[in-house]
Amino acid sequence: MNTPSPLASGPEGPDALRPLLDTVLTALDTGARARGGPLPSGGPRAVAARVRAALPDVLPEHGDPDALQHLVHALAEGSADPADPLCAAHLHCPPLAVAVAADLAASALNPSLDSWDQAPAASVLEALVTRALAEEIHPAPATPDALMTTGGTESNQLALLLARETQGTGVRLLHGANAHHSLPRAAWLLGLPDPVTVPAPAGVLDPAALDEALTRLPGPHLVAATAGTTDAGLIDPLPEIAARCAAHGARLHIDAAYGAGLLFSHRHRHRLTGLDAAHTVTLDLHKLGWQPVAAGLLTARDPADLAALHHRADYLNADDDTDAGLPDLLGRSLRTSRRPDVLKIAVTLATLGRHGLGRLVDQVCDLAAGLADLVAHHPGFDLYDRPTLSTVLFRPAHATDTAVAAVRRRLLTDGRAVLGRAHADGRLWLKATLLNPRARPDDLAALLKLVEGNTPG
Ligand SMILES: Cc1ncc(COP(=O)(O)O)c(C=O)c1O
Repeated sequence: MNTPSPLASGPEGPDALRPLLDTVLTALDTGARARGGPLPSGGPRAVAARVRAALPDVLPEHGDPDALQHLVHALAEGSADPADPLCAAHLHCPPLAVAVAADLAASALNPSLDSWDQAPAASVLEALVTRALAEEIHPAPATPDALMTTGGTESNQLALLLARETQGTGVRLLHGANAHHSLPRAAWLLGLPDPVTVPAPAGVLDPAALDEALTRLPGPHLVAATAGTTDAGLIDPLPEIAARCAAHGARLHIDAAYGAGLLFSHRHRHRLTGLDAAHTVTLDLHKLGWQPVAAGLLTARDPADLAALHHRADYLNADDDTDAGLPDLLGRSLRTSRRPDVLKIAVTLATLGRHGLGRLVDQVCDLAAGLADLVAHHPGFDLYDRPTLSTVLFRPAHATDTAVAAVRRRLLTDGRAVLGRAHADGRLWLKATLLNPRARPDDLAALLKLVEGNTPG
């Protein structure tokens, strides 16, 4: 039998997609029911066996028109579902339905943001949204700009690249011991001098230790601070760090991949005071922004910094085309073909507004505060600290680190709960990263019960 191959766009697109979408939605439902929890049970071997059974031949001689249904079912059955309240390990958010629907349109239309003639409207949308988000972070009189990225890692890499291009190849990265691993890795990638790790004794970068390092080490310096640490959701003391950077003439990058979402909340945005002092800021709306991956941005307070990415390829941005007024998009990324990830972000911002997004932020922060209360009042658990964002570190009281690691793996293997892990204060903690605004306090109580009942004695 011939495999049906209608196109997703063009006149036949909508009619071709409609029944396929129905198939996908049904398979998402049957797959999730077959899983029956936040994670497939049985661990890696059992999952691999089920996926292999659904895909016995990767490239069969003749296609199977039911492959869409079989494989979507298998993927849904074998997924970690961040929309399940007991799936709370990572900065892995449940995406909003409206954002996913917009992403479908992005896939169907397939604009590619490497040249205007492949993305006329998408490039306008990207310019509008990136500038508006950059202005949220760097208010007037700054005239900032931002680039879309695949996430925090790419944003951090670009931040270091821009620092190298503005400060020179000898620029040295100083980052907190609490910083994301992608920062020192980017220094390695870009051939920069060995980065210096500044102590973060209470989980946040110590400004006095930073001052000492800036005094001791020859410049030029790039300081990377964090607003929303991966392990504990803490925010470095941004105003103090910015003051130290200004005093030493150091460039400042702030990795707000997690914390930037607080900007949408009237209740919490004050926690980001000092963010505007940064030369560059990493944002990641596939964390505290409820977008499907990828939805990263890098803002630049001075748009002139972005000139370093200018690049010419005659088939994409010939001088005479640019002189004639065709927008030059190639310098807005190191990638060439590029998805319009901005569409889902634009749709989300316009649909929910600041109020709607801020409410989601407030809800997950409230949930974290509620979980911390439950832990603090439970004699069987230790709480690391009150949450700053939506991450709670806790551990069964008197358990060894081995037992803490074991209970996490047991719950994963059984597919009953997905918790993360983090070292702090020299001990191993369970990490609940709460990004699901639909979770209820009862879910959190059930989570604690599961941990209590499965911790090895
Ligand atoms: C603080 C921070 N920065 C950067 C990243 C990397 O983001 P991505 O996974 O989108 O590349 C993470 C990921 O968790 C993070 O927590």
